[in-house]
Amino acid sequence: MTKTESRPVRLQKYLAESGVASRRAAEVMIREGRIAVNERKTTEPGSKVVPGKDRVKVDGEEVAPAEKVYLLLNKPRGCLTSLSDRFQRPLVRDFLPPRLGRIFPVGRLDFDTEGLLLLTNDGEFCQRMIHPRHQVWKTYRADLRDPLTPEQAENLKRGVKLDAEITSLPARVRVVSPDRRRVEISIREGRKRQVKRMALAAGNRVTALKRVSLGPLRLRGLEPGQWRKLSFKEVAMLLESGKMDSRTPEKGTGGKVE
Ligand code: URA
Repeated sequence: MTKTESRPVRLQKYLAESGVASRRAAEVMIREGRIAVNERKTTEPGSKVVPGKDRVKVDGEEVAPAEKVYLLLNKPRGCLTSLSDRFQRPLVRDFLPPRLGRIFPVGRLDFDTEGLLLLTNDGEFCQRMIHPRHQVWKTYRADLRDPLTPEQAENLKRGVKLDAEITSLPARVRVVSPDRRRVEISIREGRKRQVKRMALAAGNRVTALKRVSLGPLRLRGLEPGQWRKLSFKEVAMLLESGKMDSRTPEKGTGGKVE
């Protein structure tokens, strides 16, 4: 999305998003009288400015937040969602042009997992998307070591014990190959290695994993390593979809719902 934000924001937030300082440090700078809004000195930290409309200067230099960017990447297998790696392994960031600046992944996918990954420079959006209460349905296509038994499917649907304290929320399970080794599993949570741990807890094992959808978004048309920008509408739909936590995921790619 390239649309400039237009709702009023607090001055210290604007300064923080412009890379001037943390919000706390920006408040101090405001009180010190170093900030001007539309050529008028402002010493009130709570005052609001409209990005893209109001002109904000720090010590006489104009500053503005970086344009918000929201991307969908088809993450290839064999790369990390982290921002750096001491073993120099490939990073998802390597698939994006440097001109996009500081972009970070929204959540994570394992090194050997491929598929739909969001990236953004919007910290607030990222926090909202990964917050446990924001339960967007995520669908994974999983190849399994053994054919999925009806009992295993039932357990996954009910929720399985991931460790002594955590039981997964009910999932949706769709068998998509006649040998019952390829399935689609939809979950609303995003715990570490969740689908693999769920399969293990159910008595099976994932041998390959691909995220095929996230809320209203599909991978459609993107080869591994390819990416595209999200539209303004898609970003809005993503934020909205997390509020519908009790709804079923969007339709899968076919197959039998267990
Ligand atoms: N579940 C997993 O086990 N791994 C992923 O990368 C994502 C979901």
